Amino acid sequence: MSTRPMVSADELEDIDLASPILHAEYELDAVFRHLRANRPMYWQQPRGEQPGFWVISRYADVNEVYKDKAHFTTENGNALATLLTGGDSASGAMLAVTDGVRHHQVRNLLSKGFSPQMLELIANSLRETVDGLLLAALDRGECDAARDISAKVPLGAICDLLEIPQTDREYLLGLTAHAWSTDYADEPPEESWVAKNEILLYFSKLLKERRGGDRDDMVSLLANCRIDGHPLNAAEQIANCYGLMIGGDETGRHAITGTVLALIENPDQWRALKNGDVDLKTATEEALRWTVPSLHGGRKATGDVVINGQQIKAGEVVSVWISSANRDETVFDAADEFKLARTPNKHFTFAYGSHYCLGHYLGRMEVYAVLDGLRRLVGDLEQIGEERWIYSSILHGMSSLPIKITA
Ligand code: HEM
Repeated sequence: MSTRPMVSADELEDIDLASPILHAEYELDAVFRHLRANRPMYWQQPRGEQPGFWVISRYADVNEVYKDKAHFTTENGNALATLLTGGDSASGAMLAVTDGVRHHQVRNLLSKGFSPQMLELIANSLRETVDGLLLAALDRGECDAARDISAKVPLGAICDLLEIPQTDREYLLGLTAHAWSTDYADEPPEESWVAKNEILLYFSKLLKERRGGDRDDMVSLLANCRIDGHPLNAAEQIANCYGLMIGGDETGRHAITGTVLALIENPDQWRALKNGDVDLKTATEEALRWTVPSLHGGRKATGDVVINGQQIKAGEVVSVWISSANRDETVFDAADEFKLARTPNKHFTFAYGSHYCLGHYLGRMEVYAVLDGLRRLVGDLEQIGEERWIYSSILHGMSSLPIKITA
């Protein structure tokens, strides 16, 4: 039921792929189809103060960039929003924007927080949360899938992982929703800076409380661990709490709302899910390929390198488009169709290579829990109002999706 106008391939030179307004208000499928077929290594020209950057749209080339640690870094940012505006202030501290030995050390450390016991605990709590939210929505007969369901699922899971007190969870949800994207085109940037700073302040207090304690949550792990005998510095501790919260909350939310919309727009797939014709793990992968909560990854070239015959010079900004690679017709059969039974399905929704999403288990568990809950508890879904897309060039999803829901 999307009524967003489609940008045509002829308009390519006029649009700014780093613009949050473009991604919120327009459909770009035709542009990316054209790019994949004709200009797979496209240089978007500088616009005013904004530098130019490479737009890489084919699956094979995206793969090359993700794999190439020798020529690409995230230390100046891992998205256009930071790469084009002077870098990321968490560079060298937060995992996603750290490279080399330190990245390896901190990643190994954080991986320990995702123990099988912790994941089992979260899986049970996710099922309970999803069932509770769906039953409440069924009682009312209508709900906003984005606000009443999706917004409450990932936050619960990440807060379980970090053992955030129940009383603080609503407050953090409000902040994360403003840190990386906005609901309106004209929301002032101050909203996002304030939200980011409030989150950092919150975690700096929580880390202080947990220092020296014997709890085994992720915040305590960051507060008390040692690498080569030394604790993580304060910036690393705070930035990584922030990274887990942001990485874990918004992306999952958008995957869930996008999945609900895809099921509504594809009644045959909804029936296949309901009839038990598709394996839930397979269906989860297709929901993730389809919804693309992170539109692109960003890197800076550290040396001259050739990708798909195109010379990229040291210092240039490169963007790899997950939204395009996941629809690459040379890799995915009927790539523009939502097919829950699709296999193989090696999508880039969690990226690839050394920065492959650390929380992918959790992201998958969230979508799985929602598909499972919908299949068991819900008879029918119908869209009853226009959806609203968020304003962001990196995150992709809806802030509102009004639906009718029946048992
Ligand atoms: C990295 C997507 C859920 C934590 C990434 C990256 C992507 C991504 C695309 C790579 C960024 C890059 O290459 O620059 C997603 C999606 C999710 C999800 C689509 C949900 C559907 C989570 C969750 C957590 C998390 C639940 C935490 C509990 C992280 C972290 C990194 C990361 C810490 C940085 C890893 C590194 O740099 O080594 N995620 N993510 N993500 N994600 Fe996720």
